[in-house]
Amino acid sequence: MCGVVAVLGRENASKLVIEGLKKLEYRGYDSAGIASIFQGSLQTIKSEGKLIKLIDKLENLSSDKSYFDTSIALGHTRWATHGNISVENAHPLISENKVAVVHNGIIENYLALKEQLIAEGYSFQSKTDTEVLPHLFSKYLKLGNNLLEAGRLVLNEIKGAFAFVAVSTDFPDQLFISRNSSPLAIGLGEDGNFVGSDAHSIDHLTKRIIYLEDGDHGLVETKNIQIFDKNTNKVDRKIINIQAEFGLITKAGYSHFMEKEIFEQPSVIPQTISNYLKEDSKIIIDIDKLGFEKKGSLVICAAGTSYYAAMVGKYWIEQIANIPVIIDLASEFRYRNPSIYGQNSILVISQSGESLDTLMALRHGKTLGLKTNAIVNVEGSTIDREADYSLYTKVGPEVGVASTKSFTSQLSVLFMIALALGKKFNEMNLQEINEKTQYLNMLPTAIARMLEIEEEIKLIANKIKNAKNMIFLGRGLLYPLALEGALKLKEISYIHAEGFAAGEMKHGPIALIEDDVPVIMFLVSDGNEDKSISNLQEAHSRGANTILISDKKCIEKADFAHLKLEIPEFESGFKSLLSPLLMSIPAQLLAYHVAKERGTDVDQPRNLAKSVTVE
Ligand code: AGP
Repeated sequence: MCGVVAVLGRENASKLVIEGLKKLEYRGYDSAGIASIFQGSLQTIKSEGKLIKLIDKLENLSSDKSYFDTSIALGHTRWATHGNISVENAHPLISENKVAVVHNGIIENYLALKEQLIAEGYSFQSKTDTEVLPHLFSKYLKLGNNLLEAGRLVLNEIKGAFAFVAVSTDFPDQLFISRNSSPLAIGLGEDGNFVGSDAHSIDHLTKRIIYLEDGDHGLVETKNIQIFDKNTNKVDRKIINIQAEFGLITKAGYSHFMEKEIFEQPSVIPQTISNYLKEDSKIIIDIDKLGFEKKGSLVICAAGTSYYAAMVGKYWIEQIANIPVIIDLASEFRYRNPSIYGQNSILVISQSGESLDTLMALRHGKTLGLKTNAIVNVEGSTIDREADYSLYTKVGPEVGVASTKSFTSQLSVLFMIALALGKKFNEMNLQEINEKTQYLNMLPTAIARMLEIEEEIKLIANKIKNAKNMIFLGRGLLYPLALEGALKLKEISYIHAEGFAAGEMKHGPIALIEDDVPVIMFLVSDGNEDKSISNLQEAHSRGANTILISDKKCIEKADFAHLKLEIPEFESGFKSLLSPLLMSIPAQLLAYHVAKERGTDVDQPRNLAKSVTVE
């Protein structure tokens, strides 16, 4: 997703902006740029590709480097929405070499505005929606407005989800800021002030952060901040002191952040669990706050991997607590005009806490009168701040675009929610609940043992790395894992992969089977394995390259499979109920090693962003 950073009132402002942009690289981007005001004139430099190219360009400005060693600068990493990847379309976008704007989000009515501005004589250099912003600022500044007045007039004209920062050579000591749906944070420094897409991008400059709210806009000056709400009332937003946890992010010797985050799971999942599971097996999740003072049904919304976690959560909550759960893709929820009959609350799941689809689902739930809850990893994120009740996964920053530790930690929280609901509504006797609660204590060791299959996974990865298509199969609790395994693989290796419920193959997908198509099945012996083994056999007999990842009992039953990867043995109840957590490990490792063999950008795969803040 796009990243915005601005610095005002500090020498070497451009250098500090670049440092901030580096800390936003994990969000994914395809071009970058920076602008500063030097002796009254606007200096802009932009590049395609990674930040290092922009830094090289700046370095090569040896004679004119002073242009950028000023006390006001704004920078941007762009994730293309409107307009292809090019220097022209990179931000900052400028107007008449007097106004520069960096923007995250989408200006939905930009075409009409662009036509009007062209008619008024403005010439456009890019194919972006953003470029209407600097020209609108120019237009209103030329009418004699100051930067704040001009900014308000601009806001009156635009529609969409956005966060932007604008600067003008007419007001070289001010930044205009605005936030509507896309996040924006203000940093308060001893000498100077800062703006960033999130706290992480400016926490090297200050620990005192203000999160703007939707409709907020205002002026940042060297010694002063003015914030106004959407009705132009002056507001004092809360100043939050943050810990600079992000500053410590390193790969810690691993080849990629994703690899590190896969192998962190045995140590960070206990952090998630211990946040809610206390010594006496008591789970301190507030069921009443969750909206279950009385029994009702639950709706869960999320996107991507977090949606697959929701699917697993549905199985567990219905099995353990006998509570109906409706799950929905966050991007679909509000557009289907959902009935909430019998529903008490909505739970959204988001690692970043910034996915706009998921935020809008939360907001829609609020308008429907539902209690709003969130499982998030990033505390202080927009979804965290807007939910009535947040449950934190607490696994530390997840930098790799592909969700790994955040997925298993989301599952851990969902399992605890199921147990807490089951206990509250006496759907299980205390002995059964305690037995299942003990599974949580077994989990970290089990995940560590699953990681020991890495060498076998590497062998499989090497055999299938050139496949054009791949199919993942799972049944019951492992059906969501088939979908997750396919998503992990496709998003970092770029191989087309699809996940299906094992029983669905014969209803169409089996037509995809031809010689050597890898068909990967996640399976555990839970009494229903024979049907799944038959499904795998059906693919096998049509020429598929069948790969079974399962326990000893199933491996023996499915001796026909071309490749068999035996997982460690676990107590049967634990293995079948927590199989989604166990099979996450081979799903993650397989995707990682296939991608590594193929040499793709594992941590920042093409076209993707860690936090998707557009709809
Ligand atoms: C998963 O590996 C992907 N990165 C993506 O599907 C992700 O899960 C999705 O964008 C949701 O992100 P969130 O959990 O931060 O809301």
